[in-house]
Amino acid sequence: MTALDALKTQAAADAASKIVDQFKADPDRLSRMSLDVAGIFVDVSKQSWSKAGFDSAVALFEQAGLVEARDRMWTGKEINVSEGRAVLHVALRDSDAENQRLRGAEITADVKTARDAMKAYADGIRAGTITGASGKKFKTIVHIGIGGSDLGPRLVFQGLAPLQPEIDVRFVANVDGSELALALAGLDPSETLVIAVSKTFTTQETLANFLAARDWLIKALGEEAASKHLAAVSAAPDKTGAFGIPADRVFGFKDWVGGRYSLWSAVSLSLIIALGYDIYERLLAGAHEMDQHFLTAPFPQNAPILLAAAQLYNRIGLDRPSRAVIPYVHRLRRLAAFLQQLEMESNGKRTSPTGEVLETKTCPVVFGDEGTNAQHAFFQMLHQSEDVVPLELIAVQHNPEATPDMQQKLLSNIIAQGEAFMVGKSLETSVAECEKLGFDAARTAQIAPQKVCPGNKPSTTVLLNELTPETLGALLALYEHKTFAEGIVLGLNSFDQWGVELGKTLGVNVLKDITGDVIAAHDPSTTALIKRIKG
Ligand code: F6P
Repeated sequence: MTALDALKTQAAADAASKIVDQFKADPDRLSRMSLDVAGIFVDVSKQSWSKAGFDSAVALFEQAGLVEARDRMWTGKEINVSEGRAVLHVALRDSDAENQRLRGAEITADVKTARDAMKAYADGIRAGTITGASGKKFKTIVHIGIGGSDLGPRLVFQGLAPLQPEIDVRFVANVDGSELALALAGLDPSETLVIAVSKTFTTQETLANFLAARDWLIKALGEEAASKHLAAVSAAPDKTGAFGIPADRVFGFKDWVGGRYSLWSAVSLSLIIALGYDIYERLLAGAHEMDQHFLTAPFPQNAPILLAAAQLYNRIGLDRPSRAVIPYVHRLRRLAAFLQQLEMESNGKRTSPTGEVLETKTCPVVFGDEGTNAQHAFFQMLHQSEDVVPLELIAVQHNPEATPDMQQKLLSNIIAQGEAFMVGKSLETSVAECEKLGFDAARTAQIAPQKVCPGNKPSTTVLLNELTPETLGALLALYEHKTFAEGIVLGLNSFDQWGVELGKTLGVNVLKDITGDVIAAHDPSTTALIKRIKG
């Protein structure tokens, strides 16, 4: 029997009992299934598993060869086999000495050169020695990128921005025109820096937005002056010259940094300028602490493994096709969007690295929104639908921006929700409530069943002591390693994204149809839509 089959058998057996009863049967459950690391408390004890189910989920990683895979990643082997690349975002948060020991002089030099260039540029802008063409200090950065060139930096800026930033960052990803229009609204071009961020520097949306922003600068300042307001971040720096970006304002990173793992690289240049290099270093330090934990903690006490084990138990063991991520933290309101790319682009695959179709389902649908808002939107379905949607409830314990009253109310909500999902509400309780309200027997019979919540719905709680650069770095690294560990068990390459290519290619074809004289052959619906757009 394979380890995955063993997990399925155990999960089916566990399904006969309730989570609340598992607590009664196992007094050590909470201590075994929770841990503190890098300022983050992780509690997976409200998952559906029994002790045996937990053990069989954790055993998956050993049996799948995670230890060897992790070593191969850490030491720069080409684990992204389809693209022939190493995967070394962890090198961006290592010390020089550690880097040198594990990966050699070349990687260490690449990391250091990139860091030094970013620091010098960011410090210069912050100090006012690097200015716009008229000598005015830059007050706003327009960060133009999409996918991994947007989601991480946007999340971190929202997470850490001071209430009144000296330098603001506005993000533009969508090519719908409105996002750029809104970002540029009210800005003074003479105090604005536009940074194009694209690993490949071929991404249609980013290039179109960048050219439109550059035109906006040129109209206001003239071509020569405008070029002083442009910068780029790319792993293909040779492509940036064609866009009028001076070479000394192009910041590079290497192709061993995957797009959705790139926030640790120059992709975060906007943040480094706006928040300061020291904040970026603290973000790296937090991620590094999680890296060390992932490398050294035994699997049953390893936070990324606990989260990955819970996901595999739910997805493979119990065929649960989705997971809700609910940060009770307005500053982390884009966390679900970030995780959607990290997890679904990494592990939403159907084949092994050698091309065989996989036997198991892979990544669930990840969705979510900030709590408590989500409670007043889609929690109804989560509480009462027959479908079981595992939840991840995330909060920050100490928030200097909240009054004690607000914070207590917020935290009582996240705690109560985890309990409510697990305990539910029985028919007896509902009947008693109806009787207390004075309902007659007929009305009680009608209303009481509608109030029942089946309960026994699993959740994980993730509690940050505070939201700091360190804890945020650790949180994001936690999810990166969770995703990697799942990919190893699922037997896929978490670092390519061939599925995105089809839509990109067809998009280019349809663009030709829309802008050219002839329309290529399509299905009737697609042809009609193209004709409609052409007017
Ligand atoms: O959507 C595919 C993708 O390649 C992502 O992996 C990447 O983060 C995004 O597009 C943006 O790519 P780039 O940084 O090259 O513009």
